[in-house]
Amino acid sequence: MSCLYTYPGFELLLTDIARAENCHLYDAEGRRWVDLESGVWCTPLGHTHPRVVQALAEQASRIAHTGYAYTCRVVEEAAREILGLLGMDGGRCVLLCSGSEAIEYGVRIAQAVLERPLLLTMSDSYFGAYGSANRRHRDEWFAFDWLSCAECPADETCGAACPRFAQIPFARVGGFLFEPGSSSGFVRFPPAKLIKTIARVVQEAGGLLLVNEVTTGMGRTGRWFGHEHYDLVPDIVALGKGLGNGYPVAATAVAPAAAARLFESTIKYAQSHQNDPLGAAVAREVLRTIREENLIERGREIGAFLLAGLEAVKERTKRIRAIRARGLMLAVEIEGDAQAALLTHRELVRRGFIIALRPGSSVFRIDPALTVPRADVEAFLAAFEEVLRGAQVAP
Ligand SMILES: Cc1ncc(COP(=O)(O)O)c(C=O)c1O
Repeated sequence: MSCLYTYPGFELLLTDIARAENCHLYDAEGRRWVDLESGVWCTPLGHTHPRVVQALAEQASRIAHTGYAYTCRVVEEAAREILGLLGMDGGRCVLLCSGSEAIEYGVRIAQAVLERPLLLTMSDSYFGAYGSANRRHRDEWFAFDWLSCAECPADETCGAACPRFAQIPFARVGGFLFEPGSSSGFVRFPPAKLIKTIARVVQEAGGLLLVNEVTTGMGRTGRWFGHEHYDLVPDIVALGKGLGNGYPVAATAVAPAAAARLFESTIKYAQSHQNDPLGAAVAREVLRTIREENLIERGREIGAFLLAGLEAVKERTKRIRAIRARGLMLAVEIEGDAQAALLTHRELVRRGFIIALRPGSSVFRIDPALTVPRADVEAFLAAFEEVLRGAQVAP
């Protein structure tokens, strides 16, 4: 009997993982699992990457935490690297502790500087465990249901002539918070023409474009950031998850023009671990490792390989309803109900493979590290095909 309280809905299947290396988890007896979920999509460099472990240990032995009156060079360097990668040189960046917090901070900034009260977002987006974006009060948020836009003929433009688009109360919208691809775990990618049009209308009217890159950042979608697939120029970006490769560090980055507006406002946001050097050292090392080891390109290649393999499994088994993918961010919806998916999940874990099952659905999410060995992807594809064929689905 455990005294832990764990997140409801998910089955806790392995209770004694003793160590991990890249995509491999080992229990105390040396049994091995391939983690194709990267924890909670958090380890783009795989578990216990030597460069991250070294950066963590070195910084922890120097100074882990600072006060409001003093800081360290590593924090400035991490912030500068984040801004540089986002094309926000000259802007401002704050290091925080979770993706939820990075989004909340971005929303607070927007609410402090915007003249129009509403923030626009997509109805299926997820922004975290708490804060305004999580609560979505009607006087603060307009949630746009875009799902039927996915079937819109490509040559139609988004504008006032479209009754759906015309529902968006742009006259009251001060900002647009866009999540480029997670869709509450379903991994859907809103159409580019819709997103580009909304971003243009909002920004041309002096509003802010906020982008949630908590899941889609750090190479997950085959580019550094998910918004690059949409040619957007964000004003505020929230980063989390992969930024710390398993260590809880997140960031809110603000482009120069929006940062200038920030200094005119009175935003107050205090918590004890803003701009901690320990998180900064990890984030800086993660960014450098991804860049120096060409992992964005590698992720793109291995993602294409995994997608082609899944398409082939779909063709051969007829047991897959849909595959959605961008880089190494994939969702696979299988035929059958949630119970069948649960059994498939258990069987995959029994065979040594971990992917995510969205509770109560038949949607699996696959988000391996950018460093995932090709052999593990091949072994997973073979196991997945066998399990889908119903070889040994345990009761
Ligand atoms: C798309 C997206 N945004 C934000 C968050 C919140 O991040 P965190 O759980 O690190 O607070 C999550 C978490 O899963 C997420 O998937």
